[in-house]
This record gives sequence, C-alpha cells and structure tokens, in this order.
Amino acid sequence: MDTTDLVLAIFHHLLVFSLAGIIGAEFVLIRSDLSAATLKRLVGIDRHYGIIAMLIIVAGIGRVIYGLKGWEFYVYNWMFWAKMAAFAIVGLLSIIPTVRFLSWNRQASASPGFQVPAAELASVRTYVRTEASIFLLIPVFAAAMARGYGY
Ligand code: HEM
Repeated sequence: MDTTDLVLAIFHHLLVFSLAGIIGAEFVLIRSDLSAATLKRLVGIDRHYGIIAMLIIVAGIGRVIYGLKGWEFYVYNWMFWAKMAAFAIVGLLSIIPTVRFLSWNRQASASPGFQVPAAELASVRTYVRTEASIFLLIPVFAAAMARGYGY
C-alpha cells in the first residue's frame, strides 16, 4: 500500500470532478438569457476554472512522478500524451469564453440595459460545447492509459 499514491489519486479525482462541474455549470448557464446576475455567477464560476486546472496539473504530475507505476509507464504511452493534448486543447478553448464573460460582466455593470450581443453569445456557446465534448475524451484516454493501452 502506498499512501502518497492514494492521496494523489483522491485529489486528482476530486479536482477532475470539480472541473467537470464547472464546465457543466457554464454549459447550462450560457444556454439561458444572460441577465446581469447570471453574468456575475458565470464570472464567479469561471474564476475557479484556472485554479482547479492548475491543481489538476500539480496532482497529475505528482501521480506521474510518485505514482505506483513510475514515470516510465506514462511518458512512452501515446494515450497519456493524447490525454495531455486533450486537456491542453480544453484549456485553450476556455480562454475566449473567459475573456467574453469578463467583458460582458463589465459592460452589464456599467450599463444596466446591456444585452449580450447575439453573435458573441453564439460563438461562446460553440466554444463551451466543443470544450465539453473534448473534455469527455480525457477520462477515455485516462482509463486506457491506466490499463496499459497506448504503447
Ligand atoms: C496535467 C494533467 C494531468 C496529468 C499529468 C494526469 C495524470 C494522471 C495519472 C498519472 C493517472 C494515473 C493513471 C494510473 O492509474 O496509472 C491519472 C488517472 C486519471 N486521470 Fe489524470 N491527469 C491529468 C489530468 C486529468 C484530467 C483533466 C482528467 C479529466 C477527466 C483526468 C482524469 C483521470 C482519470 C479519470 C483517471 C483514472 C483512470 C483510471 O484509473 O481508470 N486527468 N491521471
């Protein structure tokens, strides 16, 4: 038994589910009409995205280095790198929605009658939908790599 591996695995799972929750919440919220209160909520939720993602990287790298299987198990496995690539793409896709949420929230605070421009909302919806779809691939790669597929 290895407590470090267990603790890292627990943190990794809790953080990963938190990130799934954040993406899920954003996915649902942007489908509604975006009132000033909803925009504030979106900004609040989105602020946690970066923090959770950073913690996932720390816990994930911790699992690679201190996990039971040893780092060699992962670095030569293309499923592992596919998982990393999917995670990086999800992170990159989240940038535009973050920038838009902040800008809309700022404009809604400055002028109470502010309406989110339809074209901008449509593009953010596409970004978040794509982000959520690619996120679903990550546990698929994770499960495969953990079982030795990908060499
Ligand atoms: C820098 C980012 C990440 C790194 C370095 C990383 C690394 C790892 C490592 C080393 C394991 C252990 C696999 C094993 O038992 O051999 C693991 C498991 C897992 N990871 Fe990640 N991970 C990262 C991000 C994520 C993300 C964003 C998700 C989101 C879904 C995720 C989902 C999982 C799942 C579900 C498992 C359990 C797989 C299983 O045992 O079936 N990981 N990860």
